[in-house]
Amino acid sequence: MPSYSARLGRTELAATFAMAARARALRAAGHEVISLALGEPDFPTPDHVIAAAHTAALRGETKYPPLSGTEALKAAICAKYLRDQKFTVSPAEVLVTNGGKQGIFNVVMSVIDAGDEVVIPAPAWSGYEQTVRFAGGVPVFAPCRQAEGFVLQQAALEAAITPRTRLLILNSPNNPSGAACDAAGLAALAEVLRRHPQIWVLSDDIYEHLLFDDFRYAALAAVAPDLADRIITLTGVSKTYAMTGWRIGFLAGPAAMIKACTVVQATATSGVSSIGQAAALAALTGPQDFLAGRAAAYQARRDLVVDRLNAIPGVVCHRPNGAFYVFPEISGCIGRRTAAGRVLESDTDFAEALLEEAHVAVVQGSAFAMSPHVRISTATGEAALERACGRIAAFCAALR
Ligand SMILES: Cc1ncc(COP(=O)(O)O)c(C=O)c1O
Repeated sequence: MPSYSARLGRTELAATFAMAARARALRAAGHEVISLALGEPDFPTPDHVIAAAHTAALRGETKYPPLSGTEALKAAICAKYLRDQKFTVSPAEVLVTNGGKQGIFNVVMSVIDAGDEVVIPAPAWSGYEQTVRFAGGVPVFAPCRQAEGFVLQQAALEAAITPRTRLLILNSPNNPSGAACDAAGLAALAEVLRRHPQIWVLSDDIYEHLLFDDFRYAALAAVAPDLADRIITLTGVSKTYAMTGWRIGFLAGPAAMIKACTVVQATATSGVSSIGQAAALAALTGPQDFLAGRAAAYQARRDLVVDRLNAIPGVVCHRPNGAFYVFPEISGCIGRRTAAGRVLESDTDFAEALLEEAHVAVVQGSAFAMSPHVRISTATGEAALERACGRIAAFCAALR
């Protein structure tokens, strides 16, 4: 039997996909499952975006697109970074990627060799760890405590850095905690980074428009312009415009880094779908006023879920500033027995039992490098969230 690469053995499919697949299987078997496992907006892609893609296809925009993105989209991305991130970039400093995920892959593959360390504040989206391991790098988690709102502190960052550190991956607002870091918090991290000039920073700001309670977004490269020559800022259309299926992300960073990322991307996939780029152009240049309404809807859902969870004995849930996740701590449930007789020894046990006994899919905190927690996606209508919270409360009330 021919063998597989050692690289493949260092990675696996994310627990998020596994949980969503189990939820689908239970549903196919006739159960009424509420899935709060996936990080995907339930809103539709705006009609004007779909129309722009249709028009582009009819117009013949169906050939190989330029490697780094169409000139029109790159110009719109530069205008977007000035409008939202508050810093200036030229078209040579931006790259269109196949979703934000390929942007992360491009950066990691550009700078990480075997044994290089990457600091990842935890809890963290599993995509970072997987990509770093795939590249042969070593993830080093910097803990962000719930008591500090899951925001990375200077001391935790400093403690995670070693002479082997090559990259720091920041993510604000954060998946899975929803925590967002304000300008003062970013300035504090920049102080640490100034002492370590060998470190690149990938700032994953893909949830930039999902912010609550008048929280003011800030981009690290705008807060610390003196570090801009080693910061790459990732955004995209997936979460902001409900365009997860279109697979369009953006990187902005120093021209030499963008060139490196273009080489990685050319090796893997070449340029990004021409139709998707036309759609992204319409999203960036079209109306933006509906975004505030969507953020308000996510805020109402956050409040509903956080209030319901905090009323459950054994569950403690921080109220996050952004994204569409909450990340309750469930230590009060660990070591107890479910109504069906399972002993919950970990957050994985909790998530599996909740799915099988209460038909609610969530993702275990261990998939995000922090336990015992679960991630609950609030990208679902309020009625379903209400019912899911009722089931979680009943499941926890039945623990012995
Ligand atoms: C923090 C974070 N970054 C990047 C991505 C990837 O985004 P995309 O769907 O555009 O590849 C996700 C998707 O879940 C995410 O949560």
